[in-house]
Amino acid sequence: MEVAQQVRWVRIHPLWVRITHWLNVLAVVIMVTSGWRIYNASPLFSFEFPSSLTLGGWLGGALQWHFAAMWLLAANGLVYLASGVASGRFRQKLWPITPGAVLADMRAALKGRLAHDDLAVYNAAQRAAYATLILALIVLVLSGLAVWKPVQLQELAGLMGGYEGARVVHFAAMTLMVVIVIVHVVMVALVPRTLPTMITGRIRSGS
Ligand code: HEM
Repeated sequence: MEVAQQVRWVRIHPLWVRITHWLNVLAVVIMVTSGWRIYNASPLFSFEFPSSLTLGGWLGGALQWHFAAMWLLAANGLVYLASGVASGRFRQKLWPITPGAVLADMRAALKGRLAHDDLAVYNAAQRAAYATLILALIVLVLSGLAVWKPVQLQELAGLMGGYEGARVVHFAAMTLMVVIVIVHVVMVALVPRTLPTMITGRIRSGS
């Protein structure tokens, strides 16, 4: 007797995650590339970013891009954070994060043996990476506010050692975020079946 194969679709990424994820990618690309142009106008360190990787053409143009995209980044980020807390997704998908499990997964990833068979569950390395990305973005926005309004927000700037300190914090958080995003995109390329899930939200589970 032939057993009919039943294919079920399971939603693993709700619509709000997918919309906020891709809007965030757009905002982050604009913020980083225009930010590099702003940095080049007054570099903190002894190097500049290649012009071809920057957005805005000149300082004034880059500032306009940076200030336009910051509203998208902040508003979209607030929707993501509020929904993540209210829906319980952060607790379910990004928790717990134990150093032992993260180290074991990172070692497995370096050996090319990191398991991500069940796309509904993030492994420990993913949890740590996403949680760090979210924290880096929060620090980026707070230090950005301190650099933007160092007089009105002097308590906030003071926490980072004033205007100059906030610039260093802003740069460090940007660097951390860019490094993790590069690893994130490489991991997606290595496990390409994760990409459609962030578009349709669903995985097929045959039974
Ligand atoms: C072209 C660039 C990007 C691609 C192709 C991409 C792709 C993906 C995919 C496929 C997932 C789901 C992974 C899985 O189900 O195993 C994911 C999750 C995630 N990505 Fe990205 N991503 C990109 C850029 C970014 C950027 C720039 C950020 C933040 C700065 C980011 C933050 C996240 C976070 C936080 C999650 C987890 C979301 C959640 O489950 O709530 N991604 N990404």
